[in-house]
Amino acid sequence: MNRKVTVVGGAGNVGATVARAVAHKELADVVIVDIAETKAQGIALDIYQSCPVSGSSAKVVGYGATDEGFAASANSDVVVITSGVPRKPGMSRDDLLNVNYDIMKSVTAQIVKHSPNTIIVPVANPLDAMSQAVYRLSGLPKSRVIGMAGVLDSARMRTFVAMELGVSLQDVSCFVLGGHGDTMVPLPRLSTVAGIPLTDLVKMGALSQERLDAICTRTANGGAEITKLVGTSAWYAPGESAAVMVEAILKDQKKILPCSVYLEGEYGISNLFVGVPVKLGSAGVEQIIQVELTDSEKAALHKSAGAVKELVDVIKV
Ligand code: LAC
Repeated sequence: MNRKVTVVGGAGNVGATVARAVAHKELADVVIVDIAETKAQGIALDIYQSCPVSGSSAKVVGYGATDEGFAASANSDVVVITSGVPRKPGMSRDDLLNVNYDIMKSVTAQIVKHSPNTIIVPVANPLDAMSQAVYRLSGLPKSRVIGMAGVLDSARMRTFVAMELGVSLQDVSCFVLGGHGDTMVPLPRLSTVAGIPLTDLVKMGALSQERLDAICTRTANGGAEITKLVGTSAWYAPGESAAVMVEAILKDQKKILPCSVYLEGEYGISNLFVGVPVKLGSAGVEQIIQVELTDSEKAALHKSAGAVKELVDVIKV
């Protein structure tokens, strides 16, 4: 195929899920790079061998996180970074700050050396701070570093709404803004079922305010819920979410998706990666969509941005 996507950390659960989704959707050939070299080779071979069955012609190869491995990633259209330490039960995403920052330093240098024109999708936690680190370390334009969080968080909220109301997931659209942490901002006013805002469903008596509040809380704690159940962080929904972003970019779909991007005054936030709706196409972030927020929504978004700022200040990026 004439497109290449590299997944750094691709032998891990999230990375392998991204690699498999990209290969099965036949979006690109896939290079898996991982410090676990033989595992990277094995996972790549296993995914490659699944392609004839799934009907894809994508090629999938695996390498260690060595000069050879990064050389194989050269001229990638998109690089997804899933490297990093995952959460264990009881850990917050923020607990991973310093260790994952060191990992971002080494992988980002290698990525831009071999793919200076790529688009990077960071997935490591704490997501917004790691995205900002990758942006600073890479020297890429802000349109080319796009953190994956909002797609996952809104997918979780969609699932909870569909479960609550007994409706198809396909009818539910959800908006979640802010940092990928406990302070994230699910927005019921802009989340809809067949076009009807959740706030209207409350007025109509189809959903109680109490249940809606519980859905929002469960969304904000969605990652911790899985971590507690499984013993490590989630991978299916995060991996699929990153692959949807890759697809929007490679197919130039102009999809509006919530992503963590560098804000310079939008939403009254400056010099900070925070989750907001953006238009994703072949140029990466092609537009930051500025939605009119109520005062309380604005306050929640700024509180969430404040939590991200605390983290980026610790690692000084
Ligand atoms: C989660 C982790 C990946 O939200 O941040 O599941």
